[in-house]
Amino acid sequence: MKEIYSRRSIRKYTDQPVDQEHIQQMLRAAMYAPSAGNEKPWHFIIIRDRNKLNTITSFHPHTQMLKESPVAIVACADISNVKYDGAFWIQDMSAAVQNILLQGEALGLGTCWCGVYPKEEFVLKVSQILNLPEHIIPVAIIAVGHPAEERQVQERYKPDRVHHEVW
Ligand SMILES: Cc1cc2nc3c(=O)[nH]c(=O)nc-3n(C[C@H](O)[C@H](O)[C@H](O)COP(=O)(O)O)c2cc1C
Repeated sequence: MKEIYSRRSIRKYTDQPVDQEHIQQMLRAAMYAPSAGNEKPWHFIIIRDRNKLNTITSFHPHTQMLKESPVAIVACADISNVKYDGAFWIQDMSAAVQNILLQGEALGLGTCWCGVYPKEEFVLKVSQILNLPEHIIPVAIIAVGHPAEERQVQERYKPDRVHHEVW
């Protein structure tokens, strides 16, 4: 799958808006992710409001690309009903976020995954801005836009990270 190998985090975007149809395709991909017990704990909030995007950049220093991105997707977990003592929802959410990035790449869009959970301060502030109920945890913000930078991918495969049978 070529998108795995061509995707990079993109932090500069053109002014071109992102089609709602493309956002929907990315969210569909997200919802096809595996999840523990097929729990599917995800919810997604689409933010296009410039004030909200800029406000996030004021407290989360690593989200400055949101000043340029026409849209962001906030991936949230509903932890009210999760199985297995809540041990796996972060992995569920991560799989969904990765699908968003790969579908974005396939559509020619640039994305950047910005971590929110487990940084308490970021979780609190994002929850306030988006009016999230207590059982909904914002896990990541994904900036999305048409790329205004090109980034090469270096070879990342490292044979010495592969172990057989034991460490
Ligand atoms: C859990 C997680 C949190 C991240 N948070 C941020 C972030 O807050 N801001 C940012 O610019 N990039 C963030 N990134 C993107 C990483 O910096 C990036 O994936 C890494 O440098 C590798 O580069 P690549 O995505 O171009 O392959 C995050 C990535 C992950 C997986």
